[in-house]
Amino acid sequence: MKLITLFLFSTLLASCASVKNHRVNSNFSDEHRPQIHFTPKKGWMNDPNGMVYHNGTYHLFFQHYPDGTKWGPMHWGHATSKDLVHWQEQKIALYPDSLGTIFSGSAVIDKNNTAGFGKNAMVAIFTHHNMEIEKTGSDKYQYQSLAYSLDDGKTWTKYNGNPVLPNPGIRDFRDPKVFWYEEGKKWIMTLATLDHITFYSSPDLKNWKEESKFGKTIGAHGGVWECPDLFQLTYNGEQHWVLIVNINPGGPNGGSATQYFVGDFDGKTFKPYQTDTRWLDYGPDEYAGVTWDNTGSRKLFIGWMSNWQYANEVPTESWRSAMTISRELGLNKIGNKYLVTSKPVQELKVLNQKEFKINTVSTPHFNLSEKAGALDGPVRLSITSNQIRSFTITLSNDLGEKVMIGFDARKNEYFIDRSASGKTGFEKGFAAKHVSPRFSLKNEMDLILVIDDASVELFADDGLSVMTSIFFPTKNYTNISINSNDGFVVKTLTYNTMNSIWK
Ligand code: FRU
Repeated sequence: MKLITLFLFSTLLASCASVKNHRVNSNFSDEHRPQIHFTPKKGWMNDPNGMVYHNGTYHLFFQHYPDGTKWGPMHWGHATSKDLVHWQEQKIALYPDSLGTIFSGSAVIDKNNTAGFGKNAMVAIFTHHNMEIEKTGSDKYQYQSLAYSLDDGKTWTKYNGNPVLPNPGIRDFRDPKVFWYEEGKKWIMTLATLDHITFYSSPDLKNWKEESKFGKTIGAHGGVWECPDLFQLTYNGEQHWVLIVNINPGGPNGGSATQYFVGDFDGKTFKPYQTDTRWLDYGPDEYAGVTWDNTGSRKLFIGWMSNWQYANEVPTESWRSAMTISRELGLNKIGNKYLVTSKPVQELKVLNQKEFKINTVSTPHFNLSEKAGALDGPVRLSITSNQIRSFTITLSNDLGEKVMIGFDARKNEYFIDRSASGKTGFEKGFAAKHVSPRFSLKNEMDLILVIDDASVELFADDGLSVMTSIFFPTKNYTNISINSNDGFVVKTLTYNTMNSIWK
């Protein structure tokens, strides 16, 4: 009896310990947990999916494996927000079924009830990934399917006629992004098909017809094409079409990244104005980014803040990966080129806490944390200058770990250097310096840094040069300073400490 009690007691202790090890920290204060970026409470997350705005709510679905912290059988997790900043995780929306696991895709509001699921049904168009078929050696294991919700994404029904777009024999056949093309009164699907894009159209989301192909010999091809998006942006009152194509690997700084093309779309064919490769974000940690549907002329974007090169290895405990800050996209023109710009959504300002403002900061060395207080949680730093000179903004701790962010005037490049940022040994390429070209031709510069516990996002020159980078210091960085041997002078500096979105 005693023995049994002892056995039961020790089993109970052991199970408590293992629960504790994997315990979800309910106030989101566990190590490296972002405070102003969406993360799932527990488990694995990758691509944002099914982003759609409806009845005052932004929906963010996401590639999710709830039972582990590495990529596994995919579900669609679900989070909602009223302001693109504070996120509430909801019940899992889509579970794997007999046709496969649930890969990336999009969602639309069927205002005209074209599919017959109901007026204003929220319809998800996603890839079913069938591991059984994959094991047989056949290429036909990915196909497109539908699910719909009549209660604003709370509960979902899979369409019984799935799949709606069977696989024609293309190994990578996935990530449908659908929108209503008003001019042609039809749905357009942009689909990643191995090394190019195939456009389809449909009157009812159920029957799809191929319209055209794009990109086999255009743009970057260092890896497979994934997660595309097609939408319009305005420049000087003129509408232009932007085609996003995520690619893995083969990004500008290695691993996965988001490239884009600007051009024309006539309901059938996309024609780029130029065919050089352009990247939406030159940092290593924005991937699979696409835009929200049903937001009118405002184009809102979010990406997965990681990279397939090491996403499965990053040193977090009960969850893996965050999304970027929600960003608003725009169009700018430099010479004869249209460039897509990204900026943090203006709503982010709701998190502002204390503001420290200063006019004219002269380097070589300016210790910002001495003036504005030690770095302690998320901050936003905005600077402007009417000079184009080299400088470095350093985040550091008393262990000598640091991230350096700045501009190199000789190379005309922005950079983020996380070589000595702390825990870097989990993947051989992680400790590195990454760069982005400067596109602006102006003799003045502006820079916004959004800094969280484990990431920095850089938006320079009104969002023309953008970089995202994650890091994992052994102890949080407490110091922030600006240095320059080039005599860089800041014209205005605004430093905001920010509230956590979880409190
Ligand atoms: C991109 C991606 C998609 C796919 C999903 C699977 O990161 O590979 O192409 O649908 O992730 O989780």
